[in-house]
Amino acid sequence: MRTRRARAEDVEAIARLIEHYAAEGLLLARSRDEIHARLDRFLVLVDDAKIAGCVALESYGPDLAEIRSIAIEPAAHGKGHGGRLLRAAMREARRRGYVRVFAVTHAADFFLRHGFETVDRRTLSEKIERDCAGCAQAAKCRLMGVVATVAVRPMILPVLAGEALPVLSS
Ligand SMILES: CC(C)(COP(=O)(O)OP(=O)(O)OC[C@H]1O[C@@H](n2cnc3c(N)ncnc32)[C@H](O)[C@@H]1OP(=O)(O)O)[C@@H](O)C(=O)NCCC(=O)NCCS
Repeated sequence: MRTRRARAEDVEAIARLIEHYAAEGLLLARSRDEIHARLDRFLVLVDDAKIAGCVALESYGPDLAEIRSIAIEPAAHGKGHGGRLLRAAMREARRRGYVRVFAVTHAADFFLRHGFETVDRRTLSEKIERDCAGCAQAAKCRLMGVVATVAVRPMILPVLAGEALPVLSS
């Protein structure tokens, strides 16, 4: 098993995985065209050349990204593959310079195992505007918000950056 960035030939397998869980109401549906157009956001878990899982990292500005469409094929649940994919997505988020990642999920326990904390979903206002505003289920939605910090912005003190004020001699 290994994770890698998604390629055009993975679109069909990703779409089928998402479709499967969207039909159960566990993931938001995504069309093949949308997946294709946003392929650079996806990572896949590959088992012997077969796609066993997927996850997407959606940008919400330079500091914040959403982890969405995380899915492992049904036959492979509970073996740590979801955790592996989530950690890969968090590493990718760090590489891309994001500071925090969030998810809106019914599987909060899965995220809490990997260092996420719960937050009031209403604090994720951009997400609500983007995906929840037009949702027919919005009023009775039971999804939870979870967030994790993936990187700490380095703070360079002037003295360490060689920009300290000159010492005045008397
Ligand atoms: C969520 C998902 C990606 C986890 O993948 P996985 O390979 O089974 O996860 P791991 O083996 O790494 O971790 C298993 C642990 O995660 C937690 N977990 C897994 N699925 C969970 C769920 N639906 N709800 C709450 N916790 C869950 C459990 O604590 C589980 O521990 P257990 O085996 O002791 O019960 C997988 O169940 C999946 O594809 N689900 C359908 C799509 C989905 O619901 N995605 C999340 C919505 S954002």
